[in-house]
Amino acid sequence: MIRLLIVDDIASTRENLQKLLSFEEDVEVVGTAGDGKEGFDEAQRLNPDIVLTDVNMPVMDGIQLTERLTAELPSSPVIIMSVQGERDYLRRAMQAGAREYLIKPFSHDELIAAIRKVHQLEQKKSALSPKTPEAETPRPAAAGNVIALFSGKGGVGKTLLATNLAVALANETNARVALLDLDLQFGDVGVMLALNHSRSVTDVVEAGEGLEAEMFNDILGTGPGNVRVMLAPISPELADLITADHVRVVLAELRKSFDYVVVDTATHLSEFNLEVIEMAQRILVITTLTIPAIKNAKLGLKVLESLNVDPNAVLLIVNQSDGHSDFNRESIEQNLRQPVAAQLPYDAKVVGESVTRGSPFVTLHPDAQISRAVRDIVSLVIPEQVGAGAGDKKKRRGLFGR
Ligand SMILES: Nc1ncnc2c1ncn2[C@@H]1O[C@H](COP(=O)(O)OP(=O)(O)OP(=O)(O)O)[C@@H](O)[C@H]1O
Ligand SMILES: [Mg+2]
Repeated sequence: MIRLLIVDDIASTRENLQKLLSFEEDVEVVGTAGDGKEGFDEAQRLNPDIVLTDVNMPVMDGIQLTERLTAELPSSPVIIMSVQGERDYLRRAMQAGAREYLIKPFSHDELIAAIRKVHQLEQKKSALSPKTPEAETPRPAAAGNVIALFSGKGGVGKTLLATNLAVALANETNARVALLDLDLQFGDVGVMLALNHSRSVTDVVEAGEGLEAEMFNDILGTGPGNVRVMLAPISPELADLITADHVRVVLAELRKSFDYVVVDTATHLSEFNLEVIEMAQRILVITTLTIPAIKNAKLGLKVLESLNVDPNAVLLIVNQSDGHSDFNRESIEQNLRQPVAAQLPYDAKVVGESVTRGSPFVTLHPDAQISRAVRDIVSLVIPEQVGAGAGDKKKRRGLFGR
């Protein structure tokens, strides 16, 4: 049962929402309030799973309410309802820590989907967040670094960056680099790298217990710069065969044999992604300068925070940073309370040619500004100790040593 508190100054809106939700078996409206102040008091008293609040209200508005709840009652996440065109509110709600935004008028389906989504996320988080102290100790900076790319919004350039970063890492550091495509349904790492390879993570599942190192090696394709690639299943329905356990095994195996494992992910908070977050030394959160992308980047960063991910492990990357937008680096940093680690410019020509030819731009146009930006990211993800350990690294021969 999802226990919900509704906060709105208009009585008929409260009633309508209550009626709308009365048909849902998994939602119970445990209380209502007519302004932010009353809403806060009720939230403290009832400790609801979710607070659904309007923005414009007397005494205390929805943004202030969100701020207070985020700070003082984080177990009651907030969904904000606002009228279209209140873009400034949306921005402020983001800063205040709201988890979801519903633009009025919204449908019953949108409402219930938002409630369930926020609730699910909250449950996943609470399942994972009571961390033992050792989980917070810094992870080893040596070989087997997992670099995971995430975004809260699709199409922001994760796969483009994952492929180019993997190849640039291999070229710049001479390290052994693996690239894992965990966009299990619609992975397109293979297409971006023009890989003609039929094996995929599905073969790991098929092999089951009998998986041997040599087989594992065969499952990996070989891309530019000798990057070894674990492809996503060739067809979306095959994705269902893969469990979080498989992901853990694959990642652990890759870590043993590679200096870096770059992981491209799908845009949603799945069990797989939580698995990857657990194992990653570096988490790259990618956003563009659009409002939905920034909003979802904010939510993504919040999840990482609640999972006790070391803030220093998180790198915020802005893609298409020179595009026309109301946002710039400063406003993003302010909104997301996270420094921008790197920016990739928009470059239709270089990127277009690279994607069409299935050849990373870092090798196709190494002098392009966007390629330089990727190399900057390489220098950010390489642990400082790498220089010292480099001799070592060359001598070490793993399963897939070249
Ligand atoms: N900096 C850029 N300059 C020009 N085009 C870009 C840039 N970044 C991304 N694109 C375009 O956007 C497309 C989508 O990028 P990409 O597939 O990497 O996004 P994604 O985040 O992996 O998407 P999905 O969520 O669907 O996996 C690219 O194929 C490319 O055409
Ligand atoms: Mg992608």
